[in-house]
Amino acid sequence: MQNKVFSVLNYIGHKSKIIEQINSHLPTTLNGTFWDMFSGSGVVGLSVDFNNVEFVDNNSHLQHFMQNLSDPTFISITETMLSNYGFTNSSKKPRSEYLKDPNIGTCTWHGKTVSNMHLDSLNKSPYNQLISDYNANKFSGLAKACAYYILTIYGRNSNVSVNKKNNLAGGVGPLDFGPRAKSKVKRYQEIIRTKNVQFSQGDYFNFKPLKDDFVYMDPPYLASSFTYGGWTEDDERRLLNWIDDLPCAWALSNTFTSGTKSNIILQEWAKTKNVVFIQKKYRKWASKGKATAAKKVKKNKEVLILP
Ligand SMILES: C[S@@+](CC[C@H](N)C(=O)[O-])C[C@H]1O[C@@H](n2cnc3c(N)ncnc32)[C@H](O)[C@@H]1O
Repeated sequence: MQNKVFSVLNYIGHKSKIIEQINSHLPTTLNGTFWDMFSGSGVVGLSVDFNNVEFVDNNSHLQHFMQNLSDPTFISITETMLSNYGFTNSSKKPRSEYLKDPNIGTCTWHGKTVSNMHLDSLNKSPYNQLISDYNANKFSGLAKACAYYILTIYGRNSNVSVNKKNNLAGGVGPLDFGPRAKSKVKRYQEIIRTKNVQFSQGDYFNFKPLKDDFVYMDPPYLASSFTYGGWTEDDERRLLNWIDDLPCAWALSNTFTSGTKSNIILQEWAKTKNVVFIQKKYRKWASKGKATAAKKVKKNKEVLILP
């Protein structure tokens, strides 16, 4: 795998940490198209060594962003927007300088009142203004894509939600456009420009892969507390039936269990398939804070299911 990418959006549920494990179960050659269904931030389709990749996601804001990300002026338009709205931009000025700002406020850390360690208090008002302008349709084209990018990476948990009216909703978080975020954008741009990619918006159900294609799927998980706007047992059954009718090879990422939640529908269906259990390490923050944080293996049963 030559093109491994780390999610440009820190997208919830992105597959950067397990991409090697997924890739080891994908075909080595392909005559047709590689479909990244439920593509989110596109980590899988951009990382694999296939040239023709179709990315499908039903989030119209996200797909508009992905379609515009490789524009050569994406970074400069983003930085101009950051400056016009008064956001911090630690790719231009060190974070430590921003943290000296008297408006940064205080927080409690290990029982003591100390200066806030995050940039959220400085970015809150620009964030609220930008989300309000976005929902008032003040942007189109590339500017709209840049605004979505900012609202995601500056958002709480690196996320901005889509509500029932298809507007964006959410609050500010602690991160900003730092050097790492900028280099992730550049990496995505390089890879998108070298591949033959298509970013389509819509329900996976309406797409028709052909017999020489390969379909990788990473849907919302029924056994999860985060469902990207909603995923029900009916949605799960509809997907599993659709997979059974596919004319080509495929792979499905999912979880059998997560915490106390268990996906029985999937477990039953998978009895006639090949199931690979994925090992995932994650950082578990201990209640006393960073000093005692340790990497542990999560108890989730995360799987990759193959025909
Ligand atoms: C687990 S995330 C995918 C993460 C992605 N693999 C990555 O690495 O960033 C699931 C995605 O499914 C999308 N989605 C939900 N329902 C969908 C549907 N019916 N058709 C297509 N995409 C859908 C969501 O918008 C979300 O981006």
